[in-house]
Amino acid sequence: MIQGAALGVPLITAHLALFQTTPIKKGDKVLITGANGAVGLCAMQIARWKGAHPVGLVRSPESQEFLKSFGFNSQPGEAQNVVSLSDEDWKSQVKNIGPFSKVLNGIGNLHFDFFISSLADEGTYVTYSAPAGQREVTVDLFQLYRRGLKLDGVMSAGKPSYAYIFEDVKEGFESGALKGLFIEDSAVFPLEGAAEAYRLTRSIKNSRVVLNLSP
Ligand SMILES: NC(=O)c1ccc[n+]([C@@H]2O[C@H](COP(=O)([O-])OP(=O)(O)OC[C@H]3O[C@@H](n4cnc5c(N)ncnc54)[C@H](OP(=O)(O)O)[C@@H]3O)[C@@H](O)[C@H]2O)c1
Repeated sequence: MIQGAALGVPLITAHLALFQTTPIKKGDKVLITGANGAVGLCAMQIARWKGAHPVGLVRSPESQEFLKSFGFNSQPGEAQNVVSLSDEDWKSQVKNIGPFSKVLNGIGNLHFDFFISSLADEGTYVTYSAPAGQREVTVDLFQLYRRGLKLDGVMSAGKPSYAYIFEDVKEGFESGALKGLFIEDSAVFPLEGAAEAYRLTRSIKNSRVVLNLSP
């Protein structure tokens, strides 16, 4: 139940980003920002389960270590799954693995030009978040049409039904190929703890924060 509460929106968002408009296929390389975050980790796992090669960007070696517990490899090379932005040569590491069929972006306009340059021809840049102050980009329309690139946006709220997404991933969870998100015991609060829970979201690393409304 608690896992379900933590998974819902991130899982839907990740699935839409991977399959809406230009669905990923087996063997595709997919670059995923915020790979240790909720949406990112769902996307990393679903992409791998579907036979694609996910490459996640994180901000620290600690997050690389965290992703190791989900079976993602940080060793530089062709089979690398995780690259840390804290490495001076992170761009070369990414380039060495790419080009990518898709870039999943949850960090606004950061590194936009680099991400576009990392796409394969006909590739798709899909965004699901644009924090204030990180919303604007300059798009080279010449490059866009000559390379057949696509820009896409994903919004999980306000659609009638996502039952098909849960149907699609059910087998992955049942087989153990997909795992729930990490939730520290101390990050589960009763409703009265909502204010404290909210404060914790500002500082906690890698764990989801959950309000448990059941008595
Ligand atoms: N469009 C939609 O329907 C939809 C649905 C769900 C969420 N969202 C949005 O998507 C975003 C991610 O959601 P989430 O639940 O996955 O959040 P999360 O669990 O907090 O994950 C955020 C991830 O982004 C990374 N990050 C943040 N700022 C960064 C920066 N400046 N450079 C590099 N990486 C950075 C974080 O790294 P650290 O761990 O190192 O901080 C973390 O990996 C949020 O803005 C959320 O509002 C949109």
